[in-house]
Formats: sequence, C-alpha cells, structure tokens
Amino acid sequence: MYTEVSEMVSGPVEGVVTQVVTAKAPGKLYIAGEYAVVETGYPAIVVAMNQFVTVTVEKAAEYGSILSKQYQENSIYWRREGGNLVFDNRDNPFHYILSAIRLTEEYATQCGKELGLYKLAVDSDLDSIDGKKYGLGSSAAVTVATVKALNEFYDLQMSAPQLYKLAAIAHLEVQGNGSLGDIAASVYGGWIAYRSFDKDWLALARKQYSLSELLTMDWPRLQIELLTPPSNLRLLVGWTGSPASTSQLVDKIALAKAQKHEEYAQFLADSEQTIENLIAGFRAQSLEIIQKGINENRRLLARLADFSGVQIETKPLKRLRQIADSFGGAAKFSGAGGGDCGIVIIDRAKSVTPLLQQWRQAAIEPLDLRVHEID
Ligand code: PMV
Ligand code: MG
Repeated sequence: MYTEVSEMVSGPVEGVVTQVVTAKAPGKLYIAGEYAVVETGYPAIVVAMNQFVTVTVEKAAEYGSILSKQYQENSIYWRREGGNLVFDNRDNPFHYILSAIRLTEEYATQCGKELGLYKLAVDSDLDSIDGKKYGLGSSAAVTVATVKALNEFYDLQMSAPQLYKLAAIAHLEVQGNGSLGDIAASVYGGWIAYRSFDKDWLALARKQYSLSELLTMDWPRLQIELLTPPSNLRLLVGWTGSPASTSQLVDKIALAKAQKHEEYAQFLADSEQTIENLIAGFRAQSLEIIQKGINENRRLLARLADFSGVQIETKPLKRLRQIADSFGGAAKFSGAGGGDCGIVIIDRAKSVTPLLQQWRQAAIEPLDLRVHEID
C-alpha cells in the first residue's frame, strides 16, 4: 500500500523471475515548532513536499551493491579534536541507507524471512546533480524510502506506524539528536502536527524488547495528527541558496539548553502554547489564526537565537521574511535555519507576483513545490 510501484520482470536467466521493487518517499519542510520539537512531547507542524527519494531493490545472484548518483563517500567532513580527525556521518545520506538496511533486515529476520542478495539503487530529487541542496530533508526521505523498498522486497507488510517506527530508529542511530518529525512527514505525507516520542525511553526499550515487539508497542508521548489546511491558505517556499547543517545547529542549541536553563524552559512553554494555537487554527480552518501563530513562533525562535547566541535567521532568511511580510504573508525560516529555505503562509486570493519578483531581486529563489499527500 505504501510502495508506489512494484513489479515482477524476467531475469537474465530464462525461466527465472527477478523481483524488482521501487519505493519513493517525499522530502519535508518544517512550518513551525522547530527546536522545541526535539524535546519529548513538544509539538511542531511539518509538511511533506513533492520532491522524492526513490529506492529500487533488485534481487542479485553473486553480490549485493548499493548505488547512488547523489550520495557517495567522495567528500567527507571532519573536525579536529586534538590529534584526531573526527568524522561527522550525520550529514551523509549514505549512512542512513546503511542504517535503514541493517534495521529492516534485523526486523525481517525476526519475522522469519530468509535474507537475500540485492542491488539497491538510490535516486534523489532532493539533492540535484549540480549540488543544489534545498534542505528538504534528504536523510529522512532516504531512510524512509530504503525501509519501504525493503519492506516490499521481503514482503514484511509493515503498516504506516510501523514504517515510521523502524525508520525513526534507523535515523536516530545515525543522527542521534533530531525530533524525527521529518520521518513522520515522509511516511504520512500532507500536513501533520507532530509530537516527539521519549528518546530516553526508546534507548532503554531497545535493550529490553525485540524490534518486532517495539514496532507493535505504543511509544510514550508520540503523536502524529493529520491536519487539513483551510482552502484559502497558500504556502510559498523561498530558497536562500546556502546549505545548513541541522545536526550541528541542534548541537549548539543543546549547549544553550544547559547554560540558559530558565530561558530555555520558558521558550519550550511558549512554543508549546503557540503551536497548540496554530493547530487550533487548522481545526478552525482560520488563516488568520494560522498566520498569527507563524509570526508568534518566529518571534520565539528569534528569542531562542538571542539567548543561545546562535545565528539561526541569517541575513538572506531575514530578507526573505521581510519581503513576504510587506505583502501580507506570515513568514519565517523553515527548520533549523542557518540557510536553506523560508516559508510563507499567505491568502490564496492575493497576487504573489510582486513578492516573488522582489525575492528574485534579493537572490531568493522561489521553489515551485507542492504539498504531497499520501493516500
Ligand atoms: O532544517 P531541517 O529542515 O532539517 O529541520 C530541523 C528542525 C529542528 O527542529 C531544528 C530539528 C529536528 O530534528 O526537529
Ligand atoms: Mg535546514
């Protein structure tokens, strides 16, 4: 049900059937609730966008392979810790593919499946060949697409909540510090209100329970709710042209959490209240309440940036927001900030031509993206 295409084709040897399965998973954008959502139970709003990672798995005879045009270990980042070079795997999608394979095979084994050899090929719209990386969350989408493809290949018949849980574990084992809201958007599609599960609980539960037990359990505090936007809501996306590292920005904010305890606690409480109002705006189908919530959340994130001393809203992101603001849009950076994209919520009845024109003049590229629904 969750795999878009699946077919049986004739293999190279006559009479032998080779199984080929293809699965795709969408990228995402955070709309509101960033940073707070990393904490257990705090809400955020995320949307799935119509840019995909596609994974194809084909049965192989002698050896397996993992092929990807976009993701290769041909450039790696490291930092120095004294005499050591320390490599950061968290921004390299290849490690998410490996983690997704390992976890899905662990689950397949527990389901009594015999593991096989296969060629796994990955293709991503999210990382274009000319190196443009829009920040639509390729690590989450590649994890979900790999789990979905192997789910089909091994005929595991995972439900959406099970796909989410397995992909979340695989992602967490590489990145360690995210909210996993991007995984939820990639599995469920559309607009969602997401509340993060308790990661400390999962670390303990992982030692206590088998994967198949974990996938059937309720995870404490996890909540995924599908939202319907009002019909007059229009989402615009602008790209700053510079990439940002989510994991490194989240690490920096985590430092501030320990040092500025009170401010941070207040930020969490305010963010929760604001996002609850925003969600209520969706339920009430009120563009006005939603726009108010976006602006309020932007102010809270500016406060977080201030007391933590981390530059989240870069100059181009600020410009993007100010231009959108002057045309009656409610705008903010999306996700961790530091570059990547900004989002605008604006009344569909308004002409956006002059806004987009000013963006272009300010070197902000409007992205022609649409929200992707999964049925
Ligand atoms: O920049 P993005 O799209 O990867 O979003 C990061 C959002 C954070 O809340 C800052 C981190 C997270 O994992 O939720
Ligand atoms: Mg980002």
